[in-house]
Amino acid sequence: MAETPDGPRVRPRTRTRAPEAYDDAERLTREELRALQLERLRATLRHAYDHVPFYRASFDAAGVRPEDCRTLSDLTRYPFTHKDDLRAGYPFGMFAVPEPDVRRIHASSGTTGRPTVVGYTERDLSVWAGVVARSLRAAGARAGHKVHVAYGYGLFTGGLGAHYGAERLGCTVIPASGGMTARQVQIIQDFRPEIIMVTPSYMLTLLDEFERQGIDPRTTSLQVGVFGAEPWTEEMRREIEERFALDAVDIYGLSEVMGPGVAQECVETKDGLHIWEDHFFPEVVDPVTGEALPDGADGELVFTSLTKEAMPVVRYRTRDLTRLLPGTARPAFRRMAKVTGRCDDMIILRGVNLFPSQIEEIVLRTAGVAPHFQLRLTREGRLDQLTVRAEARTDATPEQRATAVERIARAVKDGIGVTVAVEIVDPETLERSVGKIKRIVDLREA
Ligand code: DLL
Repeated sequence: MAETPDGPRVRPRTRTRAPEAYDDAERLTREELRALQLERLRATLRHAYDHVPFYRASFDAAGVRPEDCRTLSDLTRYPFTHKDDLRAGYPFGMFAVPEPDVRRIHASSGTTGRPTVVGYTERDLSVWAGVVARSLRAAGARAGHKVHVAYGYGLFTGGLGAHYGAERLGCTVIPASGGMTARQVQIIQDFRPEIIMVTPSYMLTLLDEFERQGIDPRTTSLQVGVFGAEPWTEEMRREIEERFALDAVDIYGLSEVMGPGVAQECVETKDGLHIWEDHFFPEVVDPVTGEALPDGADGELVFTSLTKEAMPVVRYRTRDLTRLLPGTARPAFRRMAKVTGRCDDMIILRGVNLFPSQIEEIVLRTAGVAPHFQLRLTREGRLDQLTVRAEARTDATPEQRATAVERIARAVKDGIGVTVAVEIVDPETLERSVGKIKRIVDLREA
């Protein structure tokens, strides 16, 4: 147990937090919630059809009208919306309100082509702050806590989304944004925030910096980390919780649907993320055929916004892979399992599908290996090769380094069914994250 100037530190995860101060929606029964969803869904379909030429054309082409939605399951009759549809409307073609009514614009960078632009009315911004406040409360934050926001501020939705939600909850916000890692550590030491919001990979960068400065990360004021914007595993949760002595919970969202705060893991259960279904209606579909799948089945997550004014989305294909589960800590809301990865990040290696998160699980279970790794794809002749490049821990013994190569290769072969090369590199040689980490280095075209 870490010692602090105030005496021994009680690890927050051993405390149960009373679910005080739920908001009204959190008190709804499942039936009440479904009735609210249907009412909002019908209004959203009407709003999209009447004000966005893209939706009018796509509904017409599919032979459906907004009024054809009489039950929630009727939604499957409506066509999907893809990222390319949003891109085609660049910049403001998907907006459903006059431009002067758009109070803020965000955009997601995208590695290729045009960015995806999203807009918010004043009411959208208020709803967003409300769902982030609800998320933070579910994570264990309370009014009066200090929240260190190390998600990037700017066109990315992470920083500002987290910021206004934390303010709405009544927290004191420290708008650190990403980067300037040494200064982040100093701010955490001096300002003593209880909560940090950051990508899990940048949290590891902060961890290195604490250690570089000779500060035991377990002695900080941080009690809860709210981590998202990229996939991370249970193994990563364990690593971060142990090294920092805090509770690590997952927050999910995407710009097209809102930003952070679409779904949040509750600190008392840590069993996947409750989707705030009063604003975002989830479906899971087969990523290839688009067929709707029952709850519990793995597939691609699809969202329809229920209250958005500036940019409603209907059956938006997220490309994120997960499954829907019944509610627990917030019984009316369904949960989504931790995202395993994106369809786009799936590596197909000699016919075997593989996600970076599967490698993360293996790397983090291997003695002597740090939670830093990269996947390098190369081509030899006609065959693709994958090299897992992982970093040794600073205290790894030469034996651990030697056996790690074989252990990782064997775990990948046994667990995933494919042969990979493994390299264990020296500590602090792999590039560190300042936001969303890029795990895959594709050298096949080079
Ligand atoms: O990443 C919004 C966000 C900011 C979420 C801060 C959470 C915290 P985009 O830049 O549009 O928005 O990227 C959205 O990031 O489709 C997922 O692939 C991925 N993603 C977001 N949260 C998680 C998560 C923000 N908790 C894309 N687990 C999404 C796994 C996540 N992947």
